[in-house]
Amino acid sequence: MASGQEIAIIAAIIVAIALLVLFVYKESTGFRIVHYSFVNNKLKTDSFRFAMISDLHDCVYGEDNREVLDAIEKERVDAVFLAGDMVTSCMEPRYHDGNAIRLIGRLAEKYPVFYGIGNHEDKIRRNPEDFPGMYEHLTEELSKAGLHMLCDEKVSMEDAGIDVYGLDMEHEYYRKLMTNRIPEDYLYKKLGSNDESAVSVLIAHNPEHFDTYALWKPDYVLSGHVHGGIVNIPPFGGFISPQLKLFPKYDAGVFKKDSSTMILSRGLGSHTIPIRIFNKAEIIVVDITRDQG
Ligand SMILES: [Fe+2]
Repeated sequence: MASGQEIAIIAAIIVAIALLVLFVYKESTGFRIVHYSFVNNKLKTDSFRFAMISDLHDCVYGEDNREVLDAIEKERVDAVFLAGDMVTSCMEPRYHDGNAIRLIGRLAEKYPVFYGIGNHEDKIRRNPEDFPGMYEHLTEELSKAGLHMLCDEKVSMEDAGIDVYGLDMEHEYYRKLMTNRIPEDYLYKKLGSNDESAVSVLIAHNPEHFDTYALWKPDYVLSGHVHGGIVNIPPFGGFISPQLKLFPKYDAGVFKKDSSTMILSRGLGSHTIPIRIFNKAEIIVVDITRDQG
């Protein structure tokens, strides 16, 4: 028969485990809004505010992502940028609820929406035999909503003086462990020259190649993909990337290289490992303003 001391130890362990489970659950559910501000005198208007979402992975917050829509509406944004992996290339039924497609449709009713392709959209496009009809369904639904993924394409918002570029990166530049480096002229070949008289926003899902993106001199790079490294271990940062790289150089936040700033989202959803610790899912809201001085 257990002694009083042993029962106390067992009870303490049970409470500690319950608190840990509760903590991980709270960290892994819900999302927060993160704000960044930048000054850019190439902007033609006094200010421009946009929301950035990456890596939703077909997750849902509230009925039909009502919480996401409400949060963005509250921020009074001028546009919404989607930095890839809104869907998930997985045959598990829970990833095929159409949550992302419906959310994008609702967003497009209210805002200009710019959608850059991620490796999951690319995978369902490359493997129609594994994901029958999925890519076609996605593109058809986007078309009904009046948009399409920007695949090596530029769209200009002339009133604001902003050029949006979407980079469509081949699978070899996403590979696990041994990712190939993109060539130095990769963006020039894919996107042509960057018109440096306008504010340039490059949606490039994989942040790993930021140093090479910066050679093309985009003002802002919007990336995701790394999910903040899943578990954030201060002060070391994100623990592991989807490419299974430990402590990825680029995990989340803002990074600068020469004249370029990369805004790297922790992502709004998750897949496969639905856990986040000190790495809350997020919607990023960016303010670009002209120097008022
Ligand atoms: Fe990704």
